[in-house]
Amino acid sequence: MHTLVEAEALQSRIGDLAGEINQEFGTVDLLYLIVVLRGGCFFAVDLAKRLRMPCRLDYIRVTSYAGSQSSGVMSLVSDIKTDIRGKPVIVVEDIVDTGFTMKFVLSYLALHEPGQVRVAALLDKPSRRRFDVPIHYRGFEVPDVFVAGYGLDGLDDTMANLPRIVALDDDAATATPAGLAYSMGA
Ligand code: IMP
Repeated sequence: MHTLVEAEALQSRIGDLAGEINQEFGTVDLLYLIVVLRGGCFFAVDLAKRLRMPCRLDYIRVTSYAGSQSSGVMSLVSDIKTDIRGKPVIVVEDIVDTGFTMKFVLSYLALHEPGQVRVAALLDKPSRRRFDVPIHYRGFEVPDVFVAGYGLDGLDDTMANLPRIVALDDDAATATPAGLAYSMGA
């Protein structure tokens, strides 16, 4: 395991992203942050603390089952509870990998008929992209390695509380059930 992004660099970059959002949404009455659970929560909290306009946080949770189908099936575990119809929304996600999750979340949220929708992703793994999804506020591009820390669970759901982003060794990431799930975009 080695560090990819130090805690200080994370916070500094999140400050930059918050600055961009403050510029773009500085005049709205209320900004809706829709956090994709579980991984997006650390990022969302640190981002929200730096936003200057009133924010309402809400949460969505989805899960994917790859099974024997390469495309997998995504389903909703927990829906948002607020009415976002016509409202400005930022979807806050930990990492966009294949893009499957974000594509599903954006398609699903569109059913709620929001106003302007933006995507904030702390990490972007473009080398694995299979679905073209927008990322308006992007923290860091990461290589095709399994990453953990700062809200991302890691191999056995024990690494989310690390204050930095770490890369796990290839053999560790592929030799465990969690590594297998990751490779299927779960
Ligand atoms: P996607 O649907 O393939 O874009 O994957 C997005 C989701 O998969 C994220 O919300 C994470 O939960 C998970 N994920 C993807 N890559 C990683 C990783 O490197 N570490 C931990 N979780 C990951």
